[in-house]
Amino acid sequence: MCAALEAEPPLPLPVELSPRRLIAEWSRELSSHFETEEGLSYFGTLAAERPDLSFRIGDLRADHTAMLEAIEALSGLAGDERRHRELGLRTRELLRRFQVHEAAESALLQEFFKGVGDDFLAGRSGR
Ligand SMILES: [Fe+2]
Repeated sequence: MCAALEAEPPLPLPVELSPRRLIAEWSRELSSHFETEEGLSYFGTLAAERPDLSFRIGDLRADHTAMLEAIEALSGLAGDERRHRELGLRTRELLRRFQVHEAAESALLQEFFKGVGDDFLAGRSGR
């Protein structure tokens, strides 16, 4: 979608790849994904087991909020064909931001499980 929107002149897209449709679908998936992560079984467990990670979890939650605001802005751009080139650029920015966020989350999980493994090896299971 981004390449088609950024081409000069923009390339036509089939209906199933319309920016409005794709951004709306991405927004729903992102909301659901973040909601799951922020639940008790994920961030809730990490924070309960490792209070020292709470600030990093808070940063990740703030990222979620900011990315949902960003995709809301993309939805506005998707409805305005005159701004589709900007939509392509800003969509790529949000994708990069999401990748950075996921890497931070992965690092957090690795640290969490490293702590679990260290406890196990030291004979301190069930914190
Ligand atoms: Fe996340």
